[in-house]
Amino acid sequence: MGKTVKPTATPEYASLVTAGSDATPGKRVYVKSYGCQMNVYDATRMLDVAEASGYSEASTPEDASVIILNTCHIREKASEKVYSELGKLRLLKEEKRRAGEAVQIVVAGCVAQAEGGEIIRRQSAVDLVVGPQNYHRLGDLLARADRTALVDTDFPEEDKFDHLPAPPKERIAARGVTAFVTVQEGCDKFCAFCVVPYTRGAEVSRSTQGILDEVRRSVDAGVREVTLIGQNVNAYRDRGTGLSLARLVEEIARLDGVSRIRYTTSHPRDMDDDLIAAHRDIDKLMPYLHLPVQAGSDRILAAMNRKHTARDYLDLVQRLRKSRPDLALSSDFIVGFPGESDADFEATLALIDAVGFAGSFSFKYSARPGTPAAQLSEQVSEPVKQDRLARLQQRLEEQRRSFNTSMVGAVVDVLFEKPGRYPGQIIGKSPYLQAVVVEAPEDLIGKVRPVRLLSNATNSMGGEILPVPEPSGGRA
Ligand code: SAH
Ligand code: SF4
Ligand code: F3S
Repeated sequence: MGKTVKPTATPEYASLVTAGSDATPGKRVYVKSYGCQMNVYDATRMLDVAEASGYSEASTPEDASVIILNTCHIREKASEKVYSELGKLRLLKEEKRRAGEAVQIVVAGCVAQAEGGEIIRRQSAVDLVVGPQNYHRLGDLLARADRTALVDTDFPEEDKFDHLPAPPKERIAARGVTAFVTVQEGCDKFCAFCVVPYTRGAEVSRSTQGILDEVRRSVDAGVREVTLIGQNVNAYRDRGTGLSLARLVEEIARLDGVSRIRYTTSHPRDMDDDLIAAHRDIDKLMPYLHLPVQAGSDRILAAMNRKHTARDYLDLVQRLRKSRPDLALSSDFIVGFPGESDADFEATLALIDAVGFAGSFSFKYSARPGTPAAQLSEQVSEPVKQDRLARLQQRLEEQRRSFNTSMVGAVVDVLFEKPGRYPGQIIGKSPYLQAVVVEAPEDLIGKVRPVRLLSNATNSMGGEILPVPEPSGGRA
């Protein structure tokens, strides 16, 4: 998996290169990912492709012969970060060249898709630009990019999933007991602020069979929790059979060894009755749902082209909670969308109060090239956006804390994922994705145990395991 390049100093790269200068790195690949969970997933699949082409994974960029930046275009900051990172990598590449080692620099992900060859014009050290639908060709592209810089961002005829190699069991196991599985990509919703429909293309679902095969492989390697991911995951529909997300979850729940299922990210408009009922009927489906609303003012929701009102969202939340009373919700919010008045912003706060979110992500609106909202005249000033974001985040943080505090004393099932920070501790996740730390032996990693929550710190909760046999689902 993509580890983090320390974003600080170029000299750091340089000194490390000098320190290891007599080593022959061979074919070694390093991926750094930005952005959403799909990029995290894509990074693992790129590593699979590279490894099938004879590369091994490098643990640092200094140790790599191929460095891939798997980029995000969603906000200006994310996409500009790529160029500062590339500036550092150029120096690393030059340093390595002086030491007689070749390095290829690859830009993948959504900036690659959005900017294509422009990236090479801005930073000539880049050898290859490859889009999110083309990385199954990575091995071949790297060989060809040896001679001349290449750009591959045309949406291909073939489905990349048909061409991605299955990683060996040990490598899946090394990635841990939870896994993302892409089930759907792209977006047809065209929210007025968003680049995703342009960078990821139209909504396309993967075949149920391919997904089930991948889940089976993961479970064989020890994975216990799968998160089905898609830009609009609840628009999932098998192209041949028409099977919906609710039925896909049902199929996956039938597989022995799967303890937990999650899915993300959903659009409120695609939340159908079947999926709502699945939260009641399928125990393995975790009672925690990320359902972005973005704003609480109908005027702004309409301008955003979200195609639902605040009332629609509240009604939907009510139906979900009726179906699954212990369901908790999280959302994404944007403040400072063009034309957002104080009253509009207050409507967002009112919606937050009405729902009560267990967790959320919130952002200042960022005008993105090529999106309709970027053309709107009434852009909100930076200080106003800043002020609204601070107020919004304070409210959301209060809600997150009070949700966590309300669970102190409760018993929840925890899937243990890894050793904790201190010896004797292990750490896992509750059904609500709360990090839970307990004192217990490491052989419980990969197992679900009932835990009484005893304390609530800023980023994790403490608890004790109860002496009860392993349960099957995740009800609190
Ligand atoms: N498909 C998902 C997520 C898309 S990107 C969905 O529909 O929810 C993740 C989040 O980034 C969005 O939910 C939105 O809150 C935020 N975002 C997208 N474009 C943005 C922009 N131009 N400025 C600020 N935030 C943005
Ligand atoms: Fe972007 Fe809207 Fe599509 Fe989500 S639903 S990816 S926010 S256009
Ligand atoms: Fe970013 Fe692309 Fe994901 S723009 S949020 S990496 S779909």
